[in-house]
Amino acid sequence: VESGKTGKNVSGDFTVAIPRFRLKAKPNEVAEQLVAAFQPTAYLASIKANGAFVYINVQTTALYKLVLAQINTQTYLTPDESHSVVDAFEQLSLKDADLPPAGLSLLKKNGYGTNKSGDGKKIIVEFSSPNIAKPFHAGHLRSTIIGAFLANLYEANGYKVLRMNYLGDWGKQFGILAVGFERYGSEAELEKDAITHLYDVYVKINRDGESDESIHDRAREFFVKMEAGDEQAVGLWKKFRDLSIVKYKETYARLNIYFDLYSGESQVSGESQAKALEQLQGTGIVEESEGALVVDLKKYKLEKTVVRKKDGTSVYITRDIGGAVERYNKFHFDKMVYVVASQQDLHLAQFFKVLDLMGYPWAKTLQHVNFGMVQGMSTRKGTAVFLEQILDESKRVMHEVMQKNEAKYNAIEDPEYTSDKLGITAVKVQDMAGKRINNYEFKWERMTSFEGDTGPYLQYAHVRLSSVERKNAPEIVLPPPSDRATAIDVSLLQEPKAREILLLLSEYPNVVRSALKSLEPSTICTFAFRLCHAISSAWEVLLVRGQPREVALARLWLYVSAKDVLGSAMRLLTLEPLERM
Ligand code: ARG
Repeated sequence: VESGKTGKNVSGDFTVAIPRFRLKAKPNEVAEQLVAAFQPTAYLASIKANGAFVYINVQTTALYKLVLAQINTQTYLTPDESHSVVDAFEQLSLKDADLPPAGLSLLKKNGYGTNKSGDGKKIIVEFSSPNIAKPFHAGHLRSTIIGAFLANLYEANGYKVLRMNYLGDWGKQFGILAVGFERYGSEAELEKDAITHLYDVYVKINRDGESDESIHDRAREFFVKMEAGDEQAVGLWKKFRDLSIVKYKETYARLNIYFDLYSGESQVSGESQAKALEQLQGTGIVEESEGALVVDLKKYKLEKTVVRKKDGTSVYITRDIGGAVERYNKFHFDKMVYVVASQQDLHLAQFFKVLDLMGYPWAKTLQHVNFGMVQGMSTRKGTAVFLEQILDESKRVMHEVMQKNEAKYNAIEDPEYTSDKLGITAVKVQDMAGKRINNYEFKWERMTSFEGDTGPYLQYAHVRLSSVERKNAPEIVLPPPSDRATAIDVSLLQEPKAREILLLLSEYPNVVRSALKSLEPSTICTFAFRLCHAISSAWEVLLVRGQPREVALARLWLYVSAKDVLGSAMRLLTLEPLERM
């Protein structure tokens, strides 16, 4: 049974439609039966049948108290408490993990909008996974944003989550880099910003390589040495990798995103790849083709794919196969999710199928969460290759947008901080507002506007809610959360607007559950927008200032609760709700 038209009803009624599907009896009869069996409760006063609908009269005051009292008991995880989440995966060394900044992590277990349906199951969410020395493109940006959200979502639904970054940190490109570094490298630049410097080197040496084949020969040689574990080759590669991770961590922190583990293609041992290949020979799907090993998945409507090259070096898919086995042996996950662009649909389907054919029962727990492309993601000058450049540009644009309103701009305490957070929110919300699988166009003006369903609009609504609490008359003070239900007369919240907001607040826990089914960030975004629309039309109707004390307190409680729920939804989306601007 779906609860109906929230907020449209002044009287305190819910309309419930009896759905046709899955019922043996006619909806009208079911409605009659419900009415006949009804017993009043503390929350439901009476019900009435009308064809296939049932009108339920709610005890508004009791419902208000029930909902508001739950919302106001939430606290946030401290960094120490986050440790215990990481600990759940035992073998993991804590020093590898970045911890969420204090106060910015998700709600504590039992907080409003969380539930235990995940039953403490262990899930690995692999996301972001950029390639060292190559541009951080839109696909990585989307994986980072959507993946970090999904990790939060699983956590809110009671899972233990391991956030894993599977870096593209192995392959012939490191040979190219090594050769390039000899010619163009600078230790100082590397220390300063490894990602940018290595990319520069990579571009330059590739240009040289166009007319000088010997560069590629030397690169291949270097990669062969890396795979053989040559100390010097591995040493240089490790330095590139470590310094790149330092830089990545800075950017992720700016985004309020963190990982429990930086893994990568390099971390999959040659041994487990060899073992996987050996095991594969037994499945009858492997054949030799011009010296290379190939798996034929035609029977499963998937294309053939090379699993070992002619020269014996490893390939992407074999690292994924070996990597999944290693992860399972180490972490015994109940589920593993790969957040990767839909360009790689085939690749993921292939290696999931291979693992299945190898007889691993857990192969069924692997899931590819895919997403569409972004068109035109570059700075306004059209130059971006790195995420940082996009973030800097959105910060700049937000700064300009804010400056257009001089009076407001002058009131902003820390425009640098505010514009950075607003810019990041703009980028993230643009990405999460639509269905994952849809492509979208990167639109500077639209996403940085305070109007329409945008990130800045959400932040503005949160700031305004925060300021009600702050700028309120000094004698109107909310009692401590545990006393509110008895001290505040919620029967004073009779206006349809108040009711609309309350019913939205009451829906939030279900929204979090349904987002887990769809794995769509848009489910949460849409909820946040609906809540903000309701709130922004409430300001003129539900005044706090100048009202009788009892009325002011009841409304204030509603606003403070709305702020909490909006803040929770925003945190779930990895946003950092602003208190002021
Ligand atoms: N580094 C890869 C790329 O940029 C994405 C990795 C996806 N994950 C995986 N397990 N293959 O294309």
